[in-house]
Amino acid sequence: MKALDKYREIFLILKSKDFDFPEKQAEEILSYVLKIKKSQLYTINPEITKEEEKLINSIIQRRLNNEPLQYIFGECEFYGLRIKVGPGVLIPRPETEILVEEVLKRKEDILNIDIKILDLCTGSGCIALVIAKNIENSEVYGVDISKKAILYAMENKRINSIKNAHFLVSDLFSSIKSRFAAITANPPYIKSSEISHLHPEVKYYEPYQALDGGKDGLDFYRKIIKEAKNYMYESGFLFIELGMGQADQVRKIAKNCGFRILEVVKDLANIDRVMILKK
Ligand SMILES: C[S@@+](CC[C@H](N)C(=O)[O-])C[C@H]1O[C@@H](n2cnc3c(N)ncnc32)[C@H](O)[C@@H]1O
Repeated sequence: MKALDKYREIFLILKSKDFDFPEKQAEEILSYVLKIKKSQLYTINPEITKEEEKLINSIIQRRLNNEPLQYIFGECEFYGLRIKVGPGVLIPRPETEILVEEVLKRKEDILNIDIKILDLCTGSGCIALVIAKNIENSEVYGVDISKKAILYAMENKRINSIKNAHFLVSDLFSSIKSRFAAITANPPYIKSSEISHLHPEVKYYEPYQALDGGKDGLDFYRKIIKEAKNYMYESGFLFIELGMGQADQVRKIAKNCGFRILEVVKDLANIDRVMILKK
């Protein structure tokens, strides 16, 4: 069988079960199994071996059970880095790239304060690793309460050969003893009552601990913003990702804790996505 025949078959199966973007998913599955670029499906259209077909069929079955493709492949891409993921660690989202972009835009200002940057709720380490790679003179510390997540972050540091990132298990600031020029965080921010309504591929596969932001979704903003000042240098920055519709409430929390709001950056869907605070 030729790759494009299999492409049509996968596309029709996923479309009949109402999966989003069935074309894109069919391309991703074939490109992963055949180890070719997506464009080469159309330019080379290789023959598929029996073995490859068996693997493709097993991936389709897992996908039909709503398992995310990133967990099936065991990895994804984030801001140009290869990031290993699997059960127990959140799959990095494209909108989180906005947060790292905002940090990188201010790298001179940050380095003028100090070389140390802290990434709370680091998960796979995606934010910490991109910052460490792109701000060469920095030392980036990523912390997470989940030991499993920290093991993924350490592995991601290794496979991307990034020396200036360091990971440790910590309940937010509990193991932190120093001050930082910048603190970043993409905390859990879904309201507890909304988790059961999330898409099956999120609620049945991604870690609850990475999603649950408490009754109103704001538990982590209250804790992080209240404590952050004790761990930042004068004129330090706090970059924090926001859930949909949370900007006003987080703005209030920040003002009550004496922070200045430098900017709120929107994502491509026009949702307030990243808040940048200054001590
Ligand atoms: C939304 S995920 C973000 C992961 C990663 N930074 C990213 O952007 O893909 C939130 C992370 O916070 C971690 N977490 C939950 N409670 C925590 C706590 N009390 N202290 C530190 N990390 C916590 C979860 O384990 C999860 O990895």
